[in-house]
Amino acid sequence: FNASSGTRPLVHLTPNKGWMNDPNGLFYDSEASIWHAYYQYNPNDNVWGLPLYWGHATSEDLTVWEDHGAAIAPQNDESGAFSGSIIIDANNTSGFFNDSTKPAQRIVAFYTEHNATTESQYAAYSLDGGFTFEQYEHNPVLDIGSDQFRDPKVFWHEESERWVMTLALSQEYTIQIFTSENLKDWELQSNFSHHGILGYQYECPGLAKVRVERDIPLNVTSNGKTNLTTQDDGAEYKWVMFLSINPGSPAGGSVNEYFIGDFDGKTFTPQDSAARIVDHGKDFYALQTFTNAPNGDTIGIAWASNWDYCAFVPTEAWKSSMSIARNFTVRPYNPNPQSTELNLYSTPILNSTDLQTKRYLKKSSLEIGADEALKYNLGNDAQGLLEFTATWKVNGSSIPSVGDFADLSFWFTGKEDDDEYLRLGYAVNAAGFFVDRGNTDVDFVNDNPFFNNRQTQNIETYKIGTDGLPIYKVHGIIDRNIIELFFNDGSSTSTNLFFLSDGNYIGGVEITAGVEGVFTILDFEIKQLAR
Ligand code: FRU
Repeated sequence: FNASSGTRPLVHLTPNKGWMNDPNGLFYDSEASIWHAYYQYNPNDNVWGLPLYWGHATSEDLTVWEDHGAAIAPQNDESGAFSGSIIIDANNTSGFFNDSTKPAQRIVAFYTEHNATTESQYAAYSLDGGFTFEQYEHNPVLDIGSDQFRDPKVFWHEESERWVMTLALSQEYTIQIFTSENLKDWELQSNFSHHGILGYQYECPGLAKVRVERDIPLNVTSNGKTNLTTQDDGAEYKWVMFLSINPGSPAGGSVNEYFIGDFDGKTFTPQDSAARIVDHGKDFYALQTFTNAPNGDTIGIAWASNWDYCAFVPTEAWKSSMSIARNFTVRPYNPNPQSTELNLYSTPILNSTDLQTKRYLKKSSLEIGADEALKYNLGNDAQGLLEFTATWKVNGSSIPSVGDFADLSFWFTGKEDDDEYLRLGYAVNAAGFFVDRGNTDVDFVNDNPFFNNRQTQNIETYKIGTDGLPIYKVHGIIDRNIIELFFNDGSSTSTNLFFLSDGNYIGGVEITAGVEGVFTILDFEIKQLAR
C-alpha cells in the first residue's frame, strides 16, 4: 500500500484492483482478533459485471485494511455470488465442522447465487479462518423459484435458540424472515412488507440488536411493563431493521433506511411506520453489521457510492470504497432526553497505531467578520486525511432581514490548486447543513448530472446555550475523496464522495461567515493524519 500517491483512501476499505460494491459477510474472529470484510467483487473490470465474486479483506482495528482478493466464486461465468452474510456456528449445528476447527472459527457464509433466471440462497463454510470456502454439497438451501429474492443476512436469536435469516423479495417490497435449527432447512415465519420509502426495489435487509443509551429510567408503558428488552447485564436493547432501497433516495439514487422495533424470533414490529434514513449523503448504501462484534456492540459498514454514478467516478485501477466502520446505538431523539421516540446514533471508528497526527490545531470563541476568512494551512505533506470538529452558536435575531445569504462556510481547499475545493457549512436561512462538491474535479462534476453539487439536510440542535441560543456540532472525517459527517454526536450523518485532480489532496481550510454577528464558533479542532 503506497500512502504517498494516488487517489486511494487511507482508512477506507478499497480493493487492490477491480470493482467493489456491497459489504458482505462481515464478522469478527475472536480467536485470531481479526475483523473480516467481504464485498461484491469484479476482478476483471472496474465496473460491475458477471462473473461476480466475494472479495475479502481483513483488519486488526477496523481502520486500516488489507485486501486479499477473491474468496468465493460464483457457479459459472454467467452467474454471480451476490450479497450475503457470515455467522459463527460455534456449536456445529450444521455438522459442517469437526474438532479440528475451533468453535470461534466455524464460519458459514450465506449468499445469493444469481443467474439469468433464478436467485437462490447458497451456503459455504470455511476451514481456514475465512480465507477459502467449501460449497455445501446440497446447495441451494433456499430456492422459491424467484429471480428477485436475495441478500441473506443470518444471525443467532438467543431467546428462541434459532438461526434467523432475512431476505429481500426485492420488487414486492417485502422482507421475508426465515428460521432454522441447522442452517440447512429454513422455514418462513413472517413478512415485513411495504414499510418506509419503497423506491424501485428493496435490497440488503438486516436485523440487528442495538444497545439503547439513555440517562433516564426505562420507559414504562401504560400496562406497567417496560417496552425495552433488558439483558442480564442490565443493558437495554432494541431491534433495528436496516433496509436499502435503490433508486428512491430523497437525495437521488441509493439510500439506507431503518426501523426501530421489537423482534420475537419470528416477527419484527416497528415502533412506528416512519421512514428514517441512516445517512443523508449521496454515498451510503447496502449497510451491513458485523457478526460477533465484542461487548455486544453493533458495528456496521456501508458501500460508499451510489448506483446513479458509481461506474463513472474518476478512479481507474480500483473502483469504490466502503464507509468507515460505525458503532451504532439507539438513543432518545436529540435534544429532548425525555422523548420516548428512539433514533439511531452513529459513532465512527477511526483508531489505528498505523496513523500519526502530523498537525493539530484547536481554536475557541471565534467571531468572523463579514469580509474575513480564517485560514489554516495543513502543510505540504498533507496526505488528504483529516479529522475535524466544529461547534457553533447561531444568533438568529441578528440575521439581516432581506436577501442575505448568511452561510457559515468551511472551504476545504486543494493543496496544489485551491480553485478546487469542497465547501460545507450551515445555511442559517435554510436552517440546514450543506455539502457542496460543485467545485471539485469540474470535468467529472459537469459530465454527471446525478453527481449533484449541493445537498442540504436538517440537523437538530446539539444543545441550547445559557444565553438561550442554539448550538450545533459536526464531526468530520475527510479521506482523499470521501467525506463523512456526524452531526450532534451522530444523531444524523452524511457521507459523500468528491474528487480532486490527482495529488491535489485537501491541504487547508478557510472559514467564512456571510454576515457579521450571526455565528460564533465555540470550538474548531482539526488534525492532519498520515499513514
Ligand atoms: C445491492 C445489490 C444486491 C445484490 C448485489 C449484486 O447493491 O444489488 O441486492 O446482491 O448488489 O452485486
